[in-house]
Amino acid sequence: MSAHAKSLRPRFPSQTSANIFLVGASFARQFLGSVLRWWSDNAPSTGLREQRPHRLLQIFAKMCEFVRDSMPDRRRQRYGDMEYDWEHRVDTTSGTTGWRERLLGLFHSPYQPTDAEVFREMMASVPITFCDFTFVDVGSGKGRTLLLASEYPFQKIIGIELMEELHRVAQNNIRAYQNPTQLCRQILSLRIDACDYEFPPDPLLVYLFNPLPERTLVQLLNHLTKSQQEFPRPLWLVYHNPALERVLASYEWLERTGWTEQYSVYRSRQKSEVRNLRSV
Ligand SMILES: C[S@@+](CC[C@H](N)C(=O)[O-])C[C@H]1O[C@@H](n2cnc3c(N)ncnc32)[C@H](O)[C@@H]1O
Repeated sequence: MSAHAKSLRPRFPSQTSANIFLVGASFARQFLGSVLRWWSDNAPSTGLREQRPHRLLQIFAKMCEFVRDSMPDRRRQRYGDMEYDWEHRVDTTSGTTGWRERLLGLFHSPYQPTDAEVFREMMASVPITFCDFTFVDVGSGKGRTLLLASEYPFQKIIGIELMEELHRVAQNNIRAYQNPTQLCRQILSLRIDACDYEFPPDPLLVYLFNPLPERTLVQLLNHLTKSQQEFPRPLWLVYHNPALERVLASYEWLERTGWTEQYSVYRSRQKSEVRNLRSV
């Protein structure tokens, strides 16, 4: 190598090491942010200091769960939801979710795609004219429900997802998806925190597959309530795996029209039917 070429060699770490450092630092920031958010979301309303050891133990239990979940048998199990991907040549399985997303997921909500058959059953229980409605999946992950929803003639389909990597995979899936029975091609995945999302003023079908802890779910529903006050429109909400059913039940403007063990369906009441639209 000539003296000139040597003098051009960088004196700082190579590009690759610099990239690894930046990616690592950015993940550490995200991880810390997720833990802090989880910590404040799970703060007892009384603010008791005695609860701190309990929450630290919960974090330790989550880390143990992460290690258990990384074992080969658990990894194999996660590929159990792959059939849809084989059929449609997309990547929506939780089996290929990276360790970073799995770790962050423990402090938000872990990615898991909706089963296609259950999705169709849920849609069959919503008596609407699909072409009048916009479908919004809150916490859309790799976008399987966005693809499934495109089998119905929705006006538009919108997915909102917190995690950058899952959103990126969803965008690839939307591009790659091919299905002759697809009836809606206006599909959009947005990388945004559900709490910051402004719902469109259109008639809405909002889909929730357990994406949020209680405090964040309340924030989202308060947002939706405000949007409904501003733009009264037909609104349906499908809640899959309704672990926080009691939260939805406390909103008087939402009426539960059907339910099974796996999901609940709500619709917006007419304004005249509701004494207090806020009602929480
Ligand atoms: C159980 S998965 C559901 C995935 C998808 N809706 C489906 O049914 O196939 C929940 C998703 O919510 C996302 N999530 C968690 N907290 C969120 C937030 N604050 N804003 C947006 N998405 C969030 C997670 O990253 C995860 O992808």
